[in-house]
Amino acid sequence: MGQVFELQAADAAGRIGELTVPRAGVTIETPTLLPVINPHLDTIAPRRLADEFGAEALITNAYIFHGSEDYRERALAEGLHDLLDFPGAIVTDSGSFQLAEYGEIDVTTEEILQFQRDIGSDVATPVDIPTPPDVSRERAEAELATTEERLAVADSFEAGDMLVTAPVQGSTYPDLREAAGTRAASTGLDVFPVGAVVPLLNEYRYADVVDVVAAAKRGLGPAAPVHLFGAGHPMMFALAAALGCDLFDSAAYAIYARDDRYLTVRGTRHLDELDHLPCSCPICVDHGAAGLRDLPDDRRETALAAHNLHVSFAEIRRIKAAIREGSLLELVDERARSHPAMLDGYRALLDHADQLERDDPASKGTFFYTSAESARRPEVARHHDRLDRLSVPDSLFLTEGPDPPTDDYEETWRVVPPFGPVPSDLSRTYPLTAEVPTRPDRPAIEAAADGVSRLVARHPDARVGLGHRGWPADVLATLPDDVELIDGDDRGRTR
Ligand code: GUN
Ligand code: ZN
Repeated sequence: MGQVFELQAADAAGRIGELTVPRAGVTIETPTLLPVINPHLDTIAPRRLADEFGAEALITNAYIFHGSEDYRERALAEGLHDLLDFPGAIVTDSGSFQLAEYGEIDVTTEEILQFQRDIGSDVATPVDIPTPPDVSRERAEAELATTEERLAVADSFEAGDMLVTAPVQGSTYPDLREAAGTRAASTGLDVFPVGAVVPLLNEYRYADVVDVVAAAKRGLGPAAPVHLFGAGHPMMFALAAALGCDLFDSAAYAIYARDDRYLTVRGTRHLDELDHLPCSCPICVDHGAAGLRDLPDDRRETALAAHNLHVSFAEIRRIKAAIREGSLLELVDERARSHPAMLDGYRALLDHADQLERDDPASKGTFFYTSAESARRPEVARHHDRLDRLSVPDSLFLTEGPDPPTDDYEETWRVVPPFGPVPSDLSRTYPLTAEVPTRPDRPAIEAAADGVSRLVARHPDARVGLGHRGWPADVLATLPDDVELIDGDDRGRTR
């Protein structure tokens, strides 16, 4: 279709975007959540999703309509929008999910795309093959080749003003995911779901999810709108958004509600474990924990589904606000404390700091140092790279304290953990206006030492002295030999 996605604001690789969906006549603001609607179950009516929860889009499965005589005829006659009674954008999946669950389906990409067009879908999906994690490389390559043949079919399909997705597969092979992303972005297709992550999510393998998404994003580039297929738990939205995922879909809100599971941004709780509800949505305020438990089964399920959606959409709004103010990584840092596997995911995200740095704006709100992981944020990596380009006087003294010990240094630079050396004319620019704790921890000092090493390595002719009050000896030992260590107090060389 051409240009349907515009970026408005960015933070790390996360962004606020506008996705225009021509067939629906709407533009939706991303990141957003597409609630999953199963026509056979009416947990929360689509109209209510739009009016009460502000859902701008939903996702349903065309294969279910196709396979039900009843629904097939009604969908063809009335169109999905009237049948479901939903005013926003309707995204349809193709049956690939059934393919993954049951091994076989009885439609081709051509047939199911035609069907999606005929029932009035706004965003249609070809029959990609959701290759599971950890399969042999041969299988991952062969199935990816089949998926890409189907993307080629989809690319030449007469879709009219319907958008069509290009799912990115490749199992847990980063190079396959990246190459798949590159090729998907080179088609004329419109929206780019990262597929087959559900098994990883189910096993809490968030670090692997991060590596898979980061690889796909490297191939796709920043301009592509990205859907994280099957990611519906609000605990991980911030992490995924920080990688540059724009769309999420949630069946979790309804599936969890069925067995009394209550979603929070810190994980899932069973209603029976809760005396107090950590939520101020209308459901929780009106009923309280005991009141919810006392509801008859069907009403309790609907109430829990509504709460689950409220927390999910609230988290999406929180993420958008964080992107606007430049605090998305601080939100991810907070969420990472919810579960050890989330911490793994956050650390895996920081392993990709250089990749995040490419899209991260050069200036944003104050950098808050809130954890040891903060020392590995892309802003720190960027400052280290910047040290490459700084001109350095012939002799300088790096200080954490106020004064150089002698005046035979031409200039005094401050050392700001976790960033490292900072010339005074930069000290008022982002991110060096950071709020950092007054007791820097070891990772912050190590990151600062790394910055010192890089500076010295790049300016071999400069004479560099370093004041290092409180720095551990083994960290100091990592510095190049040509750094003169001068203790802030006794002003003598201590190495
Ligand atoms: N839903 C969850 N994962 C997938 C996937 O990989 N492909 C499709 N089409 N739908 C999905
Ligand atoms: Zn609630």
